Amino acid sequence: MTEVQTSSRPTARLVPGQAGRSSPADFDIERVRRDFPILGEPVHGKSLVYLDSAATSQKPQAVIDAMSHFLLKENANVHRGVHYLSERATDAYEGARAKVKQFLNAKDVHEIVFVRGTTEAINLVAQTYGKTHVGADDEVLITAMEHHSNIVPWQMLCEEKGARLRVAPITDAGELVLSELEKLIGPKTKLVAVTHVSNVLGTINPIRQIVELAHARGARVVVDGAQAAPHLRVDVQALGCDFYAFSGHKMYGPTGIGVLYGRSELLDEMPPYQGGGDMILSVSFEKTVYNKPPGKFEAGTPNMAGAVGLGAAIDFLASLGQGALSAHEQDVLDYGIRALAEVPGLRLIGTARGKASVISFVLDDVHPHDIGTILDREGIAVRTGHHCAQPLMSRLGVVATARASLACYSARHDIDALVSGLAKVREVFR
Ligand SMILES: Cc1ncc(COP(=O)(O)O)c(C=O)c1O
Repeated sequence: MTEVQTSSRPTARLVPGQAGRSSPADFDIERVRRDFPILGEPVHGKSLVYLDSAATSQKPQAVIDAMSHFLLKENANVHRGVHYLSERATDAYEGARAKVKQFLNAKDVHEIVFVRGTTEAINLVAQTYGKTHVGADDEVLITAMEHHSNIVPWQMLCEEKGARLRVAPITDAGELVLSELEKLIGPKTKLVAVTHVSNVLGTINPIRQIVELAHARGARVVVDGAQAAPHLRVDVQALGCDFYAFSGHKMYGPTGIGVLYGRSELLDEMPPYQGGGDMILSVSFEKTVYNKPPGKFEAGTPNMAGAVGLGAAIDFLASLGQGALSAHEQDVLDYGIRALAEVPGLRLIGTARGKASVISFVLDDVHPHDIGTILDREGIAVRTGHHCAQPLMSRLGVVATARASLACYSARHDIDALVSGLAKVREVFR
C-alpha cells in the first residue's frame, strides 16, 4: 500500500464559495464558546479541550433549552390526536421539518424524511430504492474514503442481488481520482454513493461534478453528508443529488435524529422501509394503502424531542452566519495544519486541497491509542483508531490514526493545547 506523503502544502481551502467574504474577526469565538456549557467542565482537573466533534458535537444551550421546553410544555404523540398538546407537538415536529427543508434548500418539505441518523438514512435508500432498482450484475459505485455506513449497506444489497460493488480510487493526498471514478460509471451503474466530506481525511468531494458524471450515465447519487452538514452550506438543488443523508448529533443537535433528503419523484415511487403506524393511509387484512412521503418512511412514533432539538440546532447554525462560521473554521483548520506540521515526527494524513475541519495524523511509531490516552490525561479529547473506515486505513497503509476535529467552538488555543500535549507524548516515548 502506498503511504500518504507528508503535506507539501500545509494549508487547506474550503471549496470556492464556501467561505464567502467574511473574516475570522467577524466571529466572536469566546461568546460562541459560552453557548456550550460542557466546555466549562473540567477533565482530570484540566480545562476541557474538545477536539472530537466529528464523532459528535457538543450541544449549545439553545438546543438543550428547546428540547426541555418541548418535554416540559408540548410533549404528546404527533399526528394522531385532536387534543391541544398533540397539535402542539405535531406543529413542533413538522416545524422542525420545515427548518430542515430550508437548511438544505430542498424544493418541498415532503422530501425531508426524519430517521435516526446518517446510517439509517443510507440503509433506507439501500433497502428501498436499492432493492427495487439494483439487480443481478448491476453495479453500485462507492469511493475508497467511505465510512463503514456508506460501505456495508451497499455490500449487503449487492450480496443479496448478485450485484457488484465497485470502488473509485483516491490519491495519496486523499483526493478522489475523478477520471477513474468517471471510467467506473458505466451502463450497469445504478447508484453512486459518496461522502461529501471524509471523516478521516477532511477532503471535500466535488459532489456537483460527480452528480453530472453519474446522471449523464443514468445513475443516481446518494451523498453521505454526515461531516458536511455541520460545516458547509448544503444546497441539494445546486448539488443536484438524488439523496442526501446527515445526522443531527454532529451538527449541534441531539443523537437519535437525522435526515434523509430524497427527490420527490424518487420517494414517491420507492416502497416503504418499515411497516407500522403512521406510514399508512388505511389498513385491512387484505390490503394496506401506504401514506405519502415522508410519512411512508416514518413508521412508528418518531423522535419528536430530537426533531425539535435538530430544528433548534439549525437555528443556532443560522445565528452564527455561514460566512463567518466558514471563515473561522478555516482559520483554525489552517492554523492547526501549520502547527501540527511543525511537530517533530508527525505525519499529516489527508492533505487534499479542499478540506473541512478534520486533521488526522500519526506520530513516529507511537500507537494512536497511546497518543489518545496521554492527551486525555491533559484534558484533550481526540479520536484514535480506524474511524469506521478500515478499507481507507488499508489504502493509506496505516492501522489507525489520531484525529483532531473541529467545530464552531474550536479555537486556536485548542490547537496550542494539542501541540503541548503532543510534546508530552513525545517525552514519554523518547
Ligand atoms: C462520514 C460519515 N458517515 C456516516 C457516519 C455515521 O453517522 P451516524 O453514526 O450518526 O449514523 C459518520 C459518523 O461518524 C461519518 O463520519
